[in-house]
Amino acid sequence: MNVKGKNYRTIWMKDQSVFMIEQNLLPFEFEIFEAKSYKDTCFGISTMIVRGAGAIGAAAAFAMAQAFLEAPGDGFLEFIIKAKKEIEDTRPTARNLFYAVDRVFEAGKISIENALKEAQKVANKDAKDSQQIGKFGSELIKDGFNIQTHCNAGWLAFVDHGTALSPIYYAHQQKKKVFVYVDETRPRSQGARLTAWELKNENIPHVIIPDNAGAFLMSQGKVDLMIVGADRIAANGDVANKIGTLEKAIVAKEYGVPFYVAAPTSTFDLNCKSGNEIVIENRSQDEVLYQTGINKNGEIEKVLVCSPGSEAINPAFDVTPAKYITGIITEKGIVKPDAVEIGRLFD
Ligand code: MRU
Repeated sequence: MNVKGKNYRTIWMKDQSVFMIEQNLLPFEFEIFEAKSYKDTCFGISTMIVRGAGAIGAAAAFAMAQAFLEAPGDGFLEFIIKAKKEIEDTRPTARNLFYAVDRVFEAGKISIENALKEAQKVANKDAKDSQQIGKFGSELIKDGFNIQTHCNAGWLAFVDHGTALSPIYYAHQQKKKVFVYVDETRPRSQGARLTAWELKNENIPHVIIPDNAGAFLMSQGKVDLMIVGADRIAANGDVANKIGTLEKAIVAKEYGVPFYVAAPTSTFDLNCKSGNEIVIENRSQDEVLYQTGINKNGEIEKVLVCSPGSEAINPAFDVTPAKYITGIITEKGIVKPDAVEIGRLFD
């Protein structure tokens, strides 16, 4: 996507290095982080320099490829297996990470070149899938629609285009009038910081809303459609996504607002029978207790925003049962969140 007139992907690999947009600095500063080794790339994933299911998947694929390049002749396999485990331990919930690591690991059994090629394929497929999701999803958007989103499932969360935002970009290109209500998405504020930044760059009208404003807006009939992304989708259609998604889905059902999930098939985990089996990441309480922003001198600053000495919990995701979901927009089309339709995606 476009940043100041230049086309960027969220993440890419060149020679031995992986380059990623430093998302912890957005929207205040735009910097590229260079990960020179697989360990650097793991650091990028766990500290959320790169984040979002698809972008994490690409990062994991590139990290696995880097490990193949770094592995010594002596103890090659031990090195690769240890690296694979380290990459998998960076973030547990996004299915794309495990899918991507497995693909590159298998490809590397043939040759290092093959592992590198596979990692690039994973990244390219992610970008292409997102584009297709945009085409299918845009059919749900009528001219004049008000759409609510949660977290950031835009191009920053993928290699390009995004999932929940891709249909909105597509509809906007088709000259449909759209307006977006952006959930701020505490504690890390991916909506207020990243989704709003993306929409502003594309000149798409939007406002940031407090996380607890959604029910009020829906009760007033102000939301025509809600689209969110997904980090893992179980075989029965239950969806793990950013914490807060479940509340929005319940409220959407109450007020008759269609609630769609946009995700590529690489996010589905058919080995997970239901959402109960999905591992939910718990992150540091500091993300709740402190907020990062820009001060009057233009410097990025982290400040305590809670009662000093109080503790916090920070589950990063929740699981929305399939019964609250109207449909899932994939690169292969829109399906109902049930085992039969999901199974057909993989025939
Ligand atoms: O913790 P993050 O920022 O990596 O989580 C990302 C999300 O949960 C988003 O909501 C998104 O919908 C899934 S990734 C496209």
